[in-house]
Amino acid sequence: MKILRTKNAVKSFCLNLQLNKITIGFVPTMGALHQGHLDLIKKAKDNTGSVIVSIFVNPTQFNNIEDFEQYPKSLHNDLELLENIGVAAVFIPENQEIYPDKPILKIDFGLLEQRLEGAFRPGHFNGVGIVVSKLLNIVKPDKAFFGEKDLQQVAVIKRLVMDLSFDVEIVVVPTVRDKDGLALSSRNLRLNPVERNKALTLFRMLSYAKSELFNGGAWLDILFHVKHEFSQISDVRLEYFELVHAEDMSKQDSFNKDIPLSICVAAYVGKVRLIDNIPVNH
Ligand code: PAJ
Repeated sequence: MKILRTKNAVKSFCLNLQLNKITIGFVPTMGALHQGHLDLIKKAKDNTGSVIVSIFVNPTQFNNIEDFEQYPKSLHNDLELLENIGVAAVFIPENQEIYPDKPILKIDFGLLEQRLEGAFRPGHFNGVGIVVSKLLNIVKPDKAFFGEKDLQQVAVIKRLVMDLSFDVEIVVVPTVRDKDGLALSSRNLRLNPVERNKALTLFRMLSYAKSELFNGGAWLDILFHVKHEFSQISDVRLEYFELVHAEDMSKQDSFNKDIPLSICVAAYVGKVRLIDNIPVNH
């Protein structure tokens, strides 16, 4: 496995693959790798000739300095996992390599980013859009792999690729969960055992809401119950719990079999902000 630290090193590595007609799969990450990341990499390995992973904790997508500073890091372990799973190369740039200067460009995703994560994390998707654009321009992959865990991020990136004509196919990989249902997330490392237990509320409520919807329950009644359940748990603070169109993220208020629906949630468990979502009918 090659460890690449500069844009030029990545470019010449990828050029070599392209000259040999080897397709490139790209998995961008912020490190602290877990099985969710590894599933993306596995999918990439199954679908392309050579896989490149990037590890870069992108400062411009953090709207909360504490979240950025506390973001888990485990580079040594990450490299071991990547070596074992067998990727061709890992790109680990320093901040200066990606941001020689603070970008002045702002990407506005319009309605797509005015809700859910966009509403609670101002500037977040601008930062994601900027860094993903930079990484796609550096790696120039045939396919790039993203997790459904970050559903709105997927919608934003698909839009970015369409609007700016990036020559890449976006592949979406289902959410990987622990046995008890907790969606894997690098931020789970910041939960103590009591908090981890409380964090299960997110998946429990998503599953409850989905099954109620299927049983003909009215969304407003379901939402009322969910909010009540969250309010009963100390140190857990619900930010949003919404039924959305799974592609354009527009708000929905009833079951409709003709629209791909997902339920999205964000909540603080102690000081850790977690998000999750569940597909309803797709
Ligand atoms: P990060 O949170 O490290 O996630 C990297 C990729 O792994 C994303 O596509 C994310 O959706 C996916 N992922 C995370 N948890 C997952 C899970 N439990 N199951 C399946 N996939 C999962 O998302 C980012 O980094 C950044 O925003 C990034 C795209 C790298 C841009 O900085």
